[in-house]
Amino acid sequence: MAKMCIAIDGPAGAGKSTVAKRIAEMLDILYLDTGAMYRAVALKAITEGIDTKDEEKLSNLVEDIDLRVEYFQNKQHVFLDNEDVTDKIRTPEISIGASDVSAVKSVRLKMVELQRKIAENNSLVMDGRDIGTYVLPDARFKFFLTASVDERARRRYLEQTSKGISNISLEEVKKDIEYRDKNDSTRAFAPLSKADDAIVIDTTSMTVEEVVDKIISIIKSSEKTQDVRNSQVFS
Ligand code: DC
Repeated sequence: MAKMCIAIDGPAGAGKSTVAKRIAEMLDILYLDTGAMYRAVALKAITEGIDTKDEEKLSNLVEDIDLRVEYFQNKQHVFLDNEDVTDKIRTPEISIGASDVSAVKSVRLKMVELQRKIAENNSLVMDGRDIGTYVLPDARFKFFLTASVDERARRRYLEQTSKGISNISLEEVKKDIEYRDKNDSTRAFAPLSKADDAIVIDTTSMTVEEVVDKIISIIKSSEKTQDVRNSQVFS
């Protein structure tokens, strides 16, 4: 079967990862959460006492970074220096740090290299900020998920409290999201932006199921059109 790459981009809290995970399960292909990779870089910087905006030190840090993505127990796991840091990278401090390190060109180039290598060998759903515009400009399907900032903050807040992170208020979560929106979309290199050929879905008042159904139906109907086109060409 031909390889299929699906790009899902959008700001924090738009529902990308939940939706991307479900789509990948339904299509039985890989799901790559690229944000987790930037989060791992932030974790390494913070652990080593490096300022998450220090371009020179970050360039050295990623040069020979030992960062691996593996799949087991139905989940993506991120390994940093052979340690599984999958859960450690989900804190508010790391969210801000990841947004900062992701603005550094050398960090992005290194992460994009790893992401493209994974896409070279697998059909996958990849979520991030620059997948449709920069990482996989030829992706077969491109979606851009958005939602109001209040709704995105509410979702992130519920997600964090459900994980037992209770030292942050809804207002603080909203402020963090606004900081990241601005940082991610104004950086000079490969910023958060919608690809010209991406389909925009505003998820503000949609359930996860509704978003998943919409994406799957777009993919299926396009596949059908493609089948018809092929059979006309080849019969
Ligand atoms: O998707 P996330 O919240 O886990 O991403 C964390 C940060 O990483 C986000 O604020 C911006 C950055 N990021 C990026 O610049 N490009 C990507 N493809 C994915 C994430």
